[in-house]
Amino acid sequence: MDTQLKNRKIVLGVTGGIAAYKSCTLCRLLVKAGADVFVCMTEAATHLVGSDTFEALSGHKVSIGIFSDTKSISHIALAKDADMVLIAPATANTLGKIVAGMADNMLTAVTLAATCPVVVAPSMNTNMYHNIATQENLKTLARRGIYVITPASGDLACGVVGDGRMKEPEDIFEDICSILNDRLPHTPLMIENGQGRLPSPKAPLELTQTKLLPKSLGLGFKVLITAGPTEEQIDPVRYISNNSSGKMGFYLAQVAAQLGADVTLISGPVNLPTPQGVRRIDVKSAVQMLHAVEAFVTDSDIMIGTAAVADFRCENISPIKIKKTEDQDSLTIKLVKNPDILATVGKREVQRPYTVGFAAETNNCEEHAKEKLVRKNLDLIVLNDVSRQDIGFNSDDNEVTVFDKDGQVAHFDKQSKQTIATFLMDLIFKAAKQYKNAN
Ligand code: PMT
Repeated sequence: MDTQLKNRKIVLGVTGGIAAYKSCTLCRLLVKAGADVFVCMTEAATHLVGSDTFEALSGHKVSIGIFSDTKSISHIALAKDADMVLIAPATANTLGKIVAGMADNMLTAVTLAATCPVVVAPSMNTNMYHNIATQENLKTLARRGIYVITPASGDLACGVVGDGRMKEPEDIFEDICSILNDRLPHTPLMIENGQGRLPSPKAPLELTQTKLLPKSLGLGFKVLITAGPTEEQIDPVRYISNNSSGKMGFYLAQVAAQLGADVTLISGPVNLPTPQGVRRIDVKSAVQMLHAVEAFVTDSDIMIGTAAVADFRCENISPIKIKKTEDQDSLTIKLVKNPDILATVGKREVQRPYTVGFAAETNNCEEHAKEKLVRKNLDLIVLNDVSRQDIGFNSDDNEVTVFDKDGQVAHFDKQSKQTIATFLMDLIFKAAKQYKNAN
């Protein structure tokens, strides 16, 4: 991967978690890739790793207290020049301070003043990580556009095994390269609660039109849905995308909310109003969608992937508009693989939601759908034939066949996506209830 890090100014925040020692490797990787790294440590972090180590690795003075050293660069100057603020490890304490907008040390002050992408890699004891306060804080940060690198599961310094282990420096390095490669302006992810931004193209869904479902079928379920296309930038004015309108996912979200579920909808760029009562997060690229999903997945009972996620993105996004020249007959753009969002969820070993995928196929449909069900470790897959003009992408109707690992579960003939969504949510809530009881 082209690291995109040459001459980039990275503020590396190190807080007082045992994983602080891993930040030395991270600092070395960043410097080796050509980045100009400025380390900000909290006072607690200095008890775990000496600031001299980071000064030697980064070649810059380490900042700690805001006023402790007047010769140090100011927090405003650091924030203004930074291309990224990366906090690794990020303790529960520092996360809480950022959520509260506090600026009581150099790192929190820089973070508050930053207009560049901010990335946090949480690291803490598993109970602290799963505490509702930390989980709510992480969601708040994700909603505000801060990238959260979800910690891994494993042996923790406190002697227990569980979630909360900071990702390895090499993995964090890969993640931040993807984020920088995205090179999108730092637009916070937008959240809307039940308020459409555009007039609804249809009257509200009438459940009674299709099938009378108990209004409480979804009560107690937290449902995470991805919808719409992703946009993968080529240059400032061009991108790779597809024809997904988002309708299938938005109707599923609408039905799930009407049946009493707590619904989070992560949407690519679409022109649709937010269904009533649904929490919506807007993203553009696959990498952004993955980060938004990761911020909510540990707290979800059901995950449904209707988004048409681009499988590849440009290795290098041109910072200026690509011009054609007189003698040029072709243009080669190198694409690199995007993360598979649904597979990441399907393969979770702990706190894995009941996971449903969609398969958009044009040939050997059943075979491909079943292969995706297995490869992504899904509980259900919903197949639609997108070679047809009358269903699938950007139409009001769909016709789907649903499979689980034992074979075909249901087939719904061509009808409106609203109606299909009702049948699907009926099936999904019932199956997810059994899954929840068994796990
Ligand atoms: O949005 P509409 O206009 O209403 O159209 C609906 C739809 C046709 C987009 C929808 O019904 C549909 O089929 N969605 C899945 C589209 C797709 O990308 O399918 P896929 O076969 O390439 O991917 C399989 C599954 O993996 C999907 O659930 C997809 O969300 C997920 N995936 C794929 C690639 C990737 N990098 N990450 C993913 O999560």
